[in-house]
Amino acid sequence: MRLVLVGPPGAGKGTQAAMLAARFGIAHVSTGVMLRQAVQERTPLGQQARRYMDRGELVPDQVMVGIVGERIEAADAETGFVLDGFPRTIPQAEGLAAILARDGRPLDAVVNLVVPDEVVVRRLAGRRVCSGCGANYHVAYDRPRVAGRCDRCGGQLVQREDDREETVRRRLEVHNRQTEPLVSYYREQGLLREVPGTGSPEAVQAAIVEALGQATGPRATGRGDRP
Ligand code: AP5
Repeated sequence: MRLVLVGPPGAGKGTQAAMLAARFGIAHVSTGVMLRQAVQERTPLGQQARRYMDRGELVPDQVMVGIVGERIEAADAETGFVLDGFPRTIPQAEGLAAILARDGRPLDAVVNLVVPDEVVVRRLAGRRVCSGCGANYHVAYDRPRVAGRCDRCGGQLVQREDDREETVRRRLEVHNRQTEPLVSYYREQGLLREVPGTGSPEAVQAAIVEALGQATGPRATGRGDRP
């Protein structure tokens, strides 16, 4: 299965993509995670990307298409993938389409998570991420078992640089201007599934699975399956 998740910052793309990857046994490809790792490791890509990310702006399309094109050729993406945070512009979507057409691996669906701006701001202000493995938590909605520590790897939970309120507002503006046009682009191709991103992570996951017409797929095994 080959999926794309779109939606504003904080819509729950990362949370839902991790659950879908576990449910369907496919690769979770998050461009945000890949870029943050490059920043942390101070690679040339990371140094270039940081300038854009800290301002809440997008890294250039050509760079992103190159990174993702390489990533989806990896062995763990042979059974499929869920793209989280990519594509984010029409040129990125066209770049992806060209790669997938060349490989004869078309997309199965694009899920648009619909979440109002005020919910986005609340979620991102309370988000904490593991400095070790990148897992997401929330101070109110998704607390770790031990305060400040990751359930998976014991790493320290920190606030993302770009989750400060003024950067979140900038990211929302960038989303509305550059990413929102993807909704019409994929709707015209008959690939779009619109799903409300409010409700618990488990309820959103069930709505996505229903929208994909895969309600009888294998049992999920991710964190999001906790009661
Ligand atoms: P990226 O990391 O992709 O950020 P984003 O798209 O802004 O998305 P977020 O990670 O903020 O949110 P999310 O939708 O994944 O929500 P999450 O599940 O974490 O990108 C960061 C930057 O990198 C960009 O600004 C850009 O500079 C650059 N970049 C990345 N990709 C690029 C590309 N393709 N092109 C160019 N530049 C690119 O959830 C958020 C919080 O809410 C968490 O705390 C979570 O626990 C909580 N939560 C989730 N679901 C629920 C729920 N149902 N109920 C309550 N709380 C919930």
